[in-house]
Amino acid sequence: MSHALAGLRVLLGVSGGIAAYKGAELVRRLRDAGAQVRVVLTENAARFVTPLTFQALSGNPVRTSLWDESAEAAMGHIELARWADEVLIAPASADLIARLAQGQADELLTTLCLACAAPLSIAPAMNQQMWAHAATQANLVTLRARGVRVFGPGVGEQACGDVGSGRLLEPGEIVEALAATRAPRVLAGTRVLVTAGPTFEDIDPVRFIGNRSSGRMGFAIAAAARDAGAQVTLVAGPVNLSTPAGIERVDVRSAQQMHAAVLARAAGADVFISTAAVGDFRPASVASQKLKKTDRNSGLTLDLVQNPDILAEVADLPQRPFVVGFAAETHDVEAYARAKLERKNLDLIAANQVGEGCGFERDDNALLLIWPGGRQELATASKLTLARDLVAHIAHLRAARGAAA
Ligand code: CTP
Repeated sequence: MSHALAGLRVLLGVSGGIAAYKGAELVRRLRDAGAQVRVVLTENAARFVTPLTFQALSGNPVRTSLWDESAEAAMGHIELARWADEVLIAPASADLIARLAQGQADELLTTLCLACAAPLSIAPAMNQQMWAHAATQANLVTLRARGVRVFGPGVGEQACGDVGSGRLLEPGEIVEALAATRAPRVLAGTRVLVTAGPTFEDIDPVRFIGNRSSGRMGFAIAAAARDAGAQVTLVAGPVNLSTPAGIERVDVRSAQQMHAAVLARAAGADVFISTAAVGDFRPASVASQKLKKTDRNSGLTLDLVQNPDILAEVADLPQRPFVVGFAAETHDVEAYARAKLERKNLDLIAANQVGEGCGFERDDNALLLIWPGGRQELATASKLTLARDLVAHIAHLRAARGAAA
């Protein structure tokens, strides 16, 4: 990812648990994102992982105890608390969460948390039974009420063999979550409507015409707009993605359903971002029973009719939002994208190359942004990073327009 945490001073606390080993990868990811990292291990964490690993990865001395005289002489714990812009505890064990909730200062990490004015984020990891326990949940209510941010946990198979909630989020997800809390609130107070995914155009009860859009770009844009302070509605075609927290999701299947869902909401939106790969055509009629191949040698002809162009219709509304389209092209990307910008009367178009090895069904992407009067290339990056850059761009263009008006 790009330098979403550039210059940020992150104090990483690692508490005891088998997931402590993932803390090592987390240090790398934080540094890749541009952060400076200092690590504190609890004494229990140091049973699972060595301070030396974290020292090598962070490039800084690692602290494990309040009573380390040489460390206190170098950077005392109060200085360390003042140094931090962010405190992140990953993994946060049930025990550590309990001690934080009580405000204990019985060892270095909890003492630092009390002494530090920086925002505190925790990524819990524990057995699913411990996570579900009323004591843990009550402690989390206490911490959340104090403004502590809780990342995860994830659901899945655990080191102990149980399956359930309590897995540490992946290091990349933790970095994304931290970056999200730092995102500039450039869309605060705006309502953003996003479409995502493919549409399925039914042929009969078991068959449909679809496409390879995964919906990931649109979901990333919805999350980035939310992080930028917008109130987000996401109209999603059939995708296999979980809804980002805090976003209103409307599920649809066909282009006509997407059309109805969008048009019912577009006039109330400040920004419309159309990432969906809407099927241009649908069967003229949907067979009520499964089509049979009556004669092996004869072909099958489907009559197709055109679907409404949702994007163009939104752009034609009398009181239209700021309208952003997408163009997925296999060749002549810029020329086709410019033509679409003009033909559909858009405020901005984001074009990308699709085909072998790029575009659909991938985690990263590259985008070319074109608007009346300018262009900018966004180099290959994770879809979330691109989404953040796109959101920043939209905010910038809207602000420039406001200033010109
Ligand atoms: N779009 C839409 N409704 C449609 C078709 C497309 O809202 N019925 C939107 C897409 O979400 C995307 C943009 O329009 O933002 C894509 O433009 P379009 O010209 O439809 O792209 P293609 O279908 O790829 O067109 P072409 O076949 O001309 O390349």
